[in-house]
Amino acid sequence: MTAQTVPHHIAIVMDGNGRWANKRFLPRIAGHKKGVNSLKRCAKTCDARGVRVLTVFAFSSENWQRPTDEVSGIMDLFAFALAREVPQLKADGVQLRFIGERQGLSDKVLRGIEQSEAATASNQRLVLNVCFNYGGRWDIVQAAAKLSAQGVPVTEASLSQAMALAHVPDPDLVIRTGGELRISNFLLWQSAYSEFVFTDTLWPDFDEAALDSAISAFATRERRFGKTSDQVKPGVLPSSAH
Ligand code: IPE
Ligand code: IPE
Ligand code: MG
Repeated sequence: MTAQTVPHHIAIVMDGNGRWANKRFLPRIAGHKKGVNSLKRCAKTCDARGVRVLTVFAFSSENWQRPTDEVSGIMDLFAFALAREVPQLKADGVQLRFIGERQGLSDKVLRGIEQSEAATASNQRLVLNVCFNYGGRWDIVQAAAKLSAQGVPVTEASLSQAMALAHVPDPDLVIRTGGELRISNFLLWQSAYSEFVFTDTLWPDFDEAALDSAISAFATRERRFGKTSDQVKPGVLPSSAH
């Protein structure tokens, strides 16, 4: 068994847009706009490095509590960016998926989501999951509610299958930009055995080199999944049970 050097699935809390804008005396929405560019660049680099799934946190269940002009600015930007970017994403082989509660989103946003998912559904190069109106607690609750409505017993396997990211394996690497050392209700269930990289870099400044540095950090980690170091060392044959 060789150590996995490139993560199959990277998940990112794209934080720091507001501070990026504040530092430049710009409105916060200017930071979110830059954040969209940063995401495009990141998806390209992930593809180039052999990453197959990228999951990003774009708007949390809790972000509705922000000032209404920021929330409406983010909603407009989201719908606008989808309309503008989908043709290129489609050509690049990116399969777009939107993860989160759809109820409460405007018709315009919902239309953008549905159209871009349909347009890219058969793409296979890179799955890009955009968590929008998403919370890890929401996901666990909606999965449990679904099972209960179907009369299916709750087990780890059935719950995993009912969750919003059931179409991809759990993230190998979770990155949070912007300097905060917390999970903020991101992939609570799915990150049980992910490696974490926290960086002070603000999301709009997160470039190829920053991604490469997170991937390099990942490559040095020993993932033990509860076992001992000896058990997971490359080249060591599993010892027979005594
Ligand atoms: C992350 O950047 C994007 C969203 C939450 C929508 P922030 O807007 O949280 O940026 P900071 O943390 O205030 O700098
Ligand atoms: C997490 O960032 C959500 C997104 C990046 C979309 P926040 O900026 O909302 O997180 P807190 O409030 O600092 O924990
Ligand atoms: Mg923030």
